[in-house]
Amino acid sequence: MKEKINNIRQEAEQKIQQVQDEDGLKQVEIDYLGRKGKLTSLLRELKNLGEEKRKEVGKMANQVKEDLSGLIEKKRQEVSSKKDQDFTDVTLLGKKIKRGHLNPLTIIQNELEDLFASMGFMILDGPELESDYYNFEALNIPKYHPARDMHDTFYIDNSSLYSSSDKNQENDLVMRTHTSPVQVRGMQKYGVPFRGVVPGRVFRNEDIDACHEQTFDHMEGIIVDENISITHLVGVLQELINRIFKKEMNTRIRPGFFPFVEPAIELDIECTVCGGKGCPSCKHSGWVELVPGGMVHPRVLEYGRVDTNKYSGFAFGLGTTRLAMMKYGIEDIRMFNSGDMRFLEQF
Ligand code: DAH
Repeated sequence: MKEKINNIRQEAEQKIQQVQDEDGLKQVEIDYLGRKGKLTSLLRELKNLGEEKRKEVGKMANQVKEDLSGLIEKKRQEVSSKKDQDFTDVTLLGKKIKRGHLNPLTIIQNELEDLFASMGFMILDGPELESDYYNFEALNIPKYHPARDMHDTFYIDNSSLYSSSDKNQENDLVMRTHTSPVQVRGMQKYGVPFRGVVPGRVFRNEDIDACHEQTFDHMEGIIVDENISITHLVGVLQELINRIFKKEMNTRIRPGFFPFVEPAIELDIECTVCGGKGCPSCKHSGWVELVPGGMVHPRVLEYGRVDTNKYSGFAFGLGTTRLAMMKYGIEDIRMFNSGDMRFLEQF
């Protein structure tokens, strides 16, 4: 009898060990400890034994029963925790992915590009490292002309690129000070009629403060076609401003001066901070300079290989950075290139 019980214990222990899932385990429990199970049946035979023997074997059988129950319970936990691990709760909230933000300059550039594309302008690009020729000469700003003082230019020392006999090639590269060089590049490349805008970075040797940076953004615009007059320029700029600020804005036009346009104008908008009453932002004038422009100078058209008897054009230069500052109320220009997430997260 004792041997039988030991065999049952061994057999059952082995089965418990092998079993992989809850159903299998349940079956083992029924087979050994259930009402018709092997151990239970054996226990029923106890009554045939003498009293002494019955006590001894009974004790042993109960111990085995207890041990097997314990093993089964332990295994049950093992199997069910494995089940938990395999289970994917698809209703759980996911980990939040940190999202980047577009720089406000990018946002406003995208808006401007959409707006001009809708008016039939090409979106053009040009080199940031520009030749002195396109940045100044072809825009009617000859070498040693006082108009060069308008731009604090980064001239690039590239003398090491040329042999010493090639002196006049020296220092003919600049970091472009405006996007205007693409006026002539564009006319030369595409011919007339020509209609394009040029968004991009420009560079000036400025002392940096809240209003001045050495790198900022401009967007040049130019149309050359037959019968273009200054009223077209004013119309396009007015439309541009209304669409950017999403309302009818009060504007005024003053004469200006830029060597590559004649006549030149400055378009001002009523100050958005004080509504025209006068405040520190508009230097108490009630107006803020927004876009300079004018009729493309005939000499610039000639550099662009355009027939000046037949064609005329207008151009303007939008300060994209300035516009973004006004639209979003950004008071310090240094924020744009700071890479500060606390700034970027607001857009
Ligand atoms: N390029 C000029 C600047 O950087 C801005 C400008 C003025 C562009 C008049 C134009 C223009 O096209 O017609 O100050």
